[in-house]
Amino acid sequence: ADMHPHIKRSTAFKSLDDADINHFKSFLEPSQVITDQSEVQPYNTDWMKKYRGQTVVVLRPKTTEEVQKIVRYCNEKKLAVCPQGGNTGLVGGSVPVFDEVVISLTLMNQVRSLDEVSGAFVADAGLVLETADNYLAERGFIFPLDLGAKGTATIGGNVATNAGGLRLLRYGSLHGTVLGLEVVLPDGTLFSNLSTLRKDNTGYDLKQLFIGAEGTLGIITGVSIMAPRRPNAVNVAVLALDSFELVQESFARAKRDLGEILSAFEFWDQAAAEVVHKYVSHVKNPFMEGDRPAPAFGVLIETSGSVKEHDDEKLSRFLESLMEDSIVTDGVVADSETQAKALWGVRESITEGLSRAGAAYKYDISMPVPKLYSAVEDMRERLASKGFFEQGRVARVVGFGHLGDGNLHLNIGGPQYDKEVAEAIEPYVFQWLKELDGSISAEHGLGLHKAEHLHYSKPDRMISIMKQIKDLFDPNGIMNPYKYLPKS
Ligand code: FAD
Ligand code: MLT
Ligand code: ZN
Repeated sequence: ADMHPHIKRSTAFKSLDDADINHFKSFLEPSQVITDQSEVQPYNTDWMKKYRGQTVVVLRPKTTEEVQKIVRYCNEKKLAVCPQGGNTGLVGGSVPVFDEVVISLTLMNQVRSLDEVSGAFVADAGLVLETADNYLAERGFIFPLDLGAKGTATIGGNVATNAGGLRLLRYGSLHGTVLGLEVVLPDGTLFSNLSTLRKDNTGYDLKQLFIGAEGTLGIITGVSIMAPRRPNAVNVAVLALDSFELVQESFARAKRDLGEILSAFEFWDQAAAEVVHKYVSHVKNPFMEGDRPAPAFGVLIETSGSVKEHDDEKLSRFLESLMEDSIVTDGVVADSETQAKALWGVRESITEGLSRAGAAYKYDISMPVPKLYSAVEDMRERLASKGFFEQGRVARVVGFGHLGDGNLHLNIGGPQYDKEVAEAIEPYVFQWLKELDGSISAEHGLGLHKAEHLHYSKPDRMISIMKQIKDLFDPNGIMNPYKYLPKS
């Protein structure tokens, strides 16, 4: 399903021909130049199967120099490119729109260094997040970002999207943890700043521009990031609650009573739990045994500290007080690492459940926590009033997310993408957010989906500065075109 049929291919870009392919083959091995259409297909299709590009070639460089050669050539010839990591992005940014050359970073996947005193970790951008974290775990460190797509997403893609994930509450955003970047700029020159310094106030902090630029300013080839020590003691608990007010109350208390050890506070609603229960059979929700209905809300709390007995005691006192004050109706604490993983599964597999259930319109929004869930309730009412549930065109409106960060994932699920449903949601949801001073993208980014909607979150003057920055780095506009910034 082409979700953006109104976009036209820019005539400023050259179309790829045999001479271009031969040029790429002159310095890349045959296996690094994919032209076989069945092999190209996965690179044209995004994770949600919502966006489809039309590229005819995928290049798979193994070194920064190869990336430079590719990009320099493309810039000279005005061939548009689409950088791609694990292709798990959720806003249509990681696949081409038309025939942009896909530059896949996944063969650039080596660890470069780890400073075991400071924790400064340097690696190729195509390294898979989970592989990076496993490497660090063996040495007593942790990657300061975690997310459900960790088995496929790359650290370069994480930086390019400024991914937030499950532990932002603890380790902060990549804008704080990334120490330096190596980036191939659109003219093929190298932005070489793989610093391992924690502090460095020499000039504008240019690396920040590439964090969250979604491949529009250059191709990240190397990442230097601060890896904290891996906590010795990790506890995971899931709670059942009857209302969003109680979810907020439990969050306020978690910050008060667990403050220094709290490492995640995630929540989901009944519809989210049901989707996992129905479509992700290997995940077991402890509150739904024997086909019991899911509680109105579920919460996952993770604590990470250094002395297990202290944390155990704090957590059990905290949970007891929630029970005594009738804030939660039920709770389960993991008694092993395996069970902790299993409980995380209830939260992490919501995305997968939604995609197995059919089409999902995904909104990734942030606003003050007290208002957060009203976005779900309001959308449910709106779609019901149009008869979409009765007609079977909308199956569910789901809310879940990173409550600790004020970030809600609002998902509308139905049997297939449906233009009228889409039009009932958008731009309504964006306007709604604008009125609340919320953000139309808390963490997934703009991509193709939200490029034209940026004005709901940013004033004109800021957008015009963004365009000036884009023009400065990429005067030919070859880097991931049609995305991120509005056309006019
Ligand atoms: P891709 O999808 O390949 O690319 C994403 C964007 O970055 C594209 O615009 C692409 O052009 C650009 N890009 C990729 N690599 C580079 C590079 N080396 N240089 C320059 N540009 C590049 N996101 C969150 O923030 N929090 C979550 O909790 C979260 N959970 C997820 C769970 C699931 C199951 C899935 C499928 C996705 C989730 N995401 C989440 C979306 C998230 O953006 C991605 O998972 C991840 O950060 C993207 O990494 P990737 O390597 O797959 O990048
Ligand atoms: C998550 O928090 O699970 C992700 O951002 C993915 C999603 O929103 O579906
Ligand atoms: Zn998320």
